Amino acid sequence: MIFDIQPFERKLFYLISEAAQELCVSAYVVGGYVRDRLLGRPSKDMDIVCVGDGIALARHVASKLRPLPRVTVYSRFGTAMLRYRRMEIEFVGARKESYRIDSRKPDVVPGSLEDDQLRRDFTINALAVSLNPEDFGTIIDPFHGLEDLEQKIIRTPTDPSKTFSDDPLRMLRAIRFATQLKFVIEPTTWQGIVTNAARIHIVSMERIATELNKILAAAKPSIGFKLLEQSGLLARILPELAALRGVEYVDNKGHKDNFYHTLQVLDNVAQRSNNLWLRWAALLHDIGKAPTKRFEKDKGWTFHGHDAVGAAMVPKIFRRLRLPLDHKMKYVQKLVALHLRPISLTKENITDSAIRRLLFDAGDHLEDLMILCESDITSKNPRKVKRYLENYELVRQRLQEVEAKDRIRNWQPPISGELIMQAFGIQPSRQVGIIKRAIREAILDGEIPNDFEAAWHFMLRKGQELGLTPQITEPPKDLIPPRNPLPQGASDKLKA
Ligand code: CTP
Repeated sequence: MIFDIQPFERKLFYLISEAAQELCVSAYVVGGYVRDRLLGRPSKDMDIVCVGDGIALARHVASKLRPLPRVTVYSRFGTAMLRYRRMEIEFVGARKESYRIDSRKPDVVPGSLEDDQLRRDFTINALAVSLNPEDFGTIIDPFHGLEDLEQKIIRTPTDPSKTFSDDPLRMLRAIRFATQLKFVIEPTTWQGIVTNAARIHIVSMERIATELNKILAAAKPSIGFKLLEQSGLLARILPELAALRGVEYVDNKGHKDNFYHTLQVLDNVAQRSNNLWLRWAALLHDIGKAPTKRFEKDKGWTFHGHDAVGAAMVPKIFRRLRLPLDHKMKYVQKLVALHLRPISLTKENITDSAIRRLLFDAGDHLEDLMILCESDITSKNPRKVKRYLENYELVRQRLQEVEAKDRIRNWQPPISGELIMQAFGIQPSRQVGIIKRAIREAILDGEIPNDFEAAWHFMLRKGQELGLTPQITEPPKDLIPPRNPLPQGASDKLKA
């Protein structure tokens, strides 16, 4: 099959081809770039394999480009990278790899193109496009990656136990690709993951977290977390979450499976927000349920305090996975801590101060908290779902009302008491209060506009009605406040 070379890549492909011919080596585009282009996904990194010296080819290609790009050489890995039109192009010599039991870092010897394709993780990542004159643009596919792309299958090009034992990160990559691309992992490949799950311990936490983040960022992250659980990987990398799996029965009473519930919440959130950290909050929102689970004779299963216990677990999990410990962790922790608060406000006779406390505690993250809470409704009964959503709608309304009232309370009309005293030459007195209140009411009632000019003239009239005589005709400049817009809907709220 011939690769459908697009105008934006044609010039680059010809240039690499020409450079390779001049050095008497052959060159191929391989890996993720080919896969993503065939799938119509955006791709910004390109890998070039050269049967020969990859670093020399990178330098020679660079010498043909204008402006001359800088070539970064990673001599330890035998690779070189250059940037061209916002694309990172990496060059490497075709290689054979052999691994030692305790490390993901292979011993490398030069090899053929096929050796290089065979050492790769999946058949869909082992496709190569020739840049050589005899078969320019041909897709070289010894492991039937095109068929697997077509049939949406993740499969290793060689014995899966070898592929995964060599580099256990690939087990997470398999699950991540299955989630991102909605592909199925072929049964023997899957068995290879299950058999090698314990080897994940040689992979650094940073690499694990990168894959978890990619799974979380996918359209339906639950696919990945189910596979992680079923393969035995989840218990090794996120045991707190794996502990939520299962249903226990006492006196014939069971509770819901909190793992599957969590995944449903996560998918619900993912449908409404791309915020990675909100997705982490969804993943961890019930994490405190395993340690707080009790069976009480009269009440059945309870998870008292799982919100606070869960929030306290968040920093430890973030530290272990080398996730950021800054405001992002604090945000996740806050949402986990607060995830039961809005539901507590759906009861009757809730005071303004309870509402105000949530406004204060959630701060800027109130909308995200409401998304999490609404996503937390996973009942299969549509009548219940409707009722719960309506309750949250009422909470949203109360939150808005209290916030608006508070903003009105804090709003200051454009004329200060001090200005009133100067204008009429009077001391602090009841009259100052009467005039100030009259200005405020007139603005809120829409009788006069909310600007200084209008309020000044209104004040002069009001003072005269009270028998006062203005002492100045122009207001002192330093007492004219900056514009202070009225909160939206304030006059309606005040009348209501
Ligand atoms: N590769 C591999 N084993 C790994 C990582 C990468 O065999 N653990 C190979 C695959 O052929 C892969 C290529 O190296 O296609 C490039 O790797 P990378 O850029 O990390 O991944 P991509 O496949 O391009 O996909 P993504 O960018 O989504 O990670």
